[in-house]
Amino acid sequence: MTNKDRVLSGIQPTHESFHLGNYLGAVKQWVELQDSHDAFYCVVDLHALTTSPDPAKLRKQTLSSVAQLIALGLDPERCTLFIQSHVPAHNQLAWVMECLTGFGEASRMTQFKDKSAKSGTDRTVVGLFTYPMLMAADILLYQASQVPVGEDQRQHIELTRDLAQRFNATYKETFTIPSGYILKAGAKIYDLQDPTAKMSKSAESPSGIIDLMDAPEVNIKKIKSAVTDTERDVSFDEKKKPGISNLLTIYSALTNKSIKESEADFSGKGYGDFKGAVAEVVVEFFRPIRAKALELLDDPTHLNKILTLGAEKAEEVANKTLKDTYDAMGIIPRA
Ligand code: AMP
Ligand code: TRP
Repeated sequence: MTNKDRVLSGIQPTHESFHLGNYLGAVKQWVELQDSHDAFYCVVDLHALTTSPDPAKLRKQTLSSVAQLIALGLDPERCTLFIQSHVPAHNQLAWVMECLTGFGEASRMTQFKDKSAKSGTDRTVVGLFTYPMLMAADILLYQASQVPVGEDQRQHIELTRDLAQRFNATYKETFTIPSGYILKAGAKIYDLQDPTAKMSKSAESPSGIIDLMDAPEVNIKKIKSAVTDTERDVSFDEKKKPGISNLLTIYSALTNKSIKESEADFSGKGYGDFKGAVAEVVVEFFRPIRAKALELLDDPTHLNKILTLGAEKAEEVANKTLKDTYDAMGIIPRA
């Protein structure tokens, strides 16, 4: 046991590869937090069911996500890394959270509203409606005090706090009230072909997205064809030069240089040279990571060992919280 602050975060296994935005906007911070905090990270496969993935794909994506997280620097010795469905307490506490959440309250969640407005209520699964309560369970089971997530998850964290406070006030002091640890702005990465839109798998074309698991040649080509502007100086100006600024953000984040230092590296140089240098930095950064992820995926026995250990560590904490929760509510334990 440690007395470090606890953090918990989760990522959905919705794709076979993470992209540069997922790394710089989320996973990089997860890696940093594992030393200063008692960190729990899970691949939230149950949440991914709300997108009705193909079973073979879900299997592949889940393992690939775990392998990439380890390759990117999550160390199973320094953090607890596990698959959400391996710890049944997540579903069990989710039901408790559903019984505490108002119907109207859940209806006001913007992510649900946006998604259901797009597809219509008949095509929207109830799992999407109860998604935030499963997420609240993910967090509260571990008594996490901080939850590193992107800005888009702020409302879900607020709901989690409300539910924790409501439970504590109604029954008994049981849950730590978590705060969002909204990941630093500036780490937002834009689409290479449309540098005003966030780099995202839902983009129409994959040509603006840098996937970690893609072959180096593919990524070099994408970076060399990134949209820029008609000027010639490599300088940071998000409004006037979104394409160049995005490439500078990427270069600076991966080399740990400031934007100023990065600009200086290319003073007097043209866009061609600059893009070539960014491509090289990205590809060389991802090369060993991709190799490590592929190596892990090639050795399922080893990967399973890591996941079993992670689930065991997670379960120890989760089951204790679930037991306290049930006790507080008057649910009788099996004799
Ligand atoms: P998603 O798969 O889009 O839900 O994203 C998973 C995580 O990556 C979230 O924590 C996001 O905040 C982060 N993320 C996704 N896209 C980007 C981006 N373009 N720039 C920075 N962070 C991102
Ligand atoms: N909803 C989060 C997302 O889409 C993923 C998630 C599920 C999560 N459970 C969590 C994030 C618990 C933080 C903590 O990004």
